[in-house]
Amino acid sequence: MTDIREPAGQSSEQLYADDDIVRFVVASAVWAPSVHNTQPWKFSAEGDQISLHADPARQLTVSDPDGREMLISCGAALFTTRLALRSLGYIPEAAMLPDPAQPTLVARVSWPQRAPATEYEEQLMRRVRQRRTHRGGFDSLPVSTDLLTALRDSAARDGATLRVMPEDGRQLLAATVQAAEQALRLDSARVQELARWAPPPGMRRPDGVPPTSYPASPEHTSPDYPGRDFAHGHGWGLPAFSTAPWPRSAGTVGLLTTPNDQPLDWISAGHALQRILLMASSCGVAAALHSQPLELPQLRADIRAQLCDGAYPQLVLRLGTITQIAASVRRAPEDLIF
Ligand SMILES: Cc1cc2nc3c(=O)[nH]c(=O)nc-3n(C[C@H](O)[C@H](O)[C@H](O)COP(=O)(O)O)c2cc1C
Repeated sequence: MTDIREPAGQSSEQLYADDDIVRFVVASAVWAPSVHNTQPWKFSAEGDQISLHADPARQLTVSDPDGREMLISCGAALFTTRLALRSLGYIPEAAMLPDPAQPTLVARVSWPQRAPATEYEEQLMRRVRQRRTHRGGFDSLPVSTDLLTALRDSAARDGATLRVMPEDGRQLLAATVQAAEQALRLDSARVQELARWAPPPGMRRPDGVPPTSYPASPEHTSPDYPGRDFAHGHGWGLPAFSTAPWPRSAGTVGLLTTPNDQPLDWISAGHALQRILLMASSCGVAAALHSQPLELPQLRADIRAQLCDGAYPQLVLRLGTITQIAASVRRAPEDLIF
């Protein structure tokens, strides 16, 4: 598989106008995953250069005071930006956090050279709009070891590590997600923040987590990885995702970690996350994401001490196959370019 970062290329005249490229790229990048679908990004463009900015107005100030999850989300949008350029046959050149005076400037991306997209890149690009976060259990079919190896290799390309949990780690992580979910539900500031990003049915909002993306009755898994309380007691959500007997499988559990815990690491984690999600999706494998225990400093420190060999945990992922997928929403690209 060819790395989307550094294919050999050559200069040639532009096939598309820069404005069209920017519109296409932003329209793709918005489909990246983001915490609570906050879509905490905006874009500026000049000639053959797009700048991706974090949007602190969309940061979760209670749950994510350092902006870690905001930058993971932006990292996922950056991966998608680069992939979209590759799908057009351009070779992206990205400078991450290029200006210390502008900490919200996540990356500047230009496309000075051309080379045809590889089959691998086209495969990932086809999943950008189709991939959805899953919330619930999985079918019992295990994820193949070949795919897990490929996902681990792909995380390593971004300097991140995907740690696939053995059974004891899987149990331990489930316990931390349960403890965190319980604590979050008792914290009124966090409950209110979540409610702001979980609109009721029928509300035509282009952001937040809509009831079309989670089950009305929480799907318990074995071991149990409880989901967020997006419906906050209103019974919103979709009918049961599956008729398979409960509890359903928690799937293969992974922990995405980085060697350090600085803004650049968070962006890299997001880059790796989107690469993993799209690759898994192109192989028919869905992912559920859990950041609940990583929003609580003590639980995050416990996970780091017990499961990460000193690396920093950035996200819990569960991978598996499912029979039904949810629907999500996004803002219009023209509202994001300034
Ligand atoms: C940093 C980060 C943390 C996330 N944490 C959770 C989580 O704890 N629970 C959850 O259900 N989804 C989580 N998600 C997934 C987002 O809710 C999801 O990406 C967003 O709602 C958009 O939906 P989509 O991924 O289906 O396009 C997280 C995503 C990111 C990038």
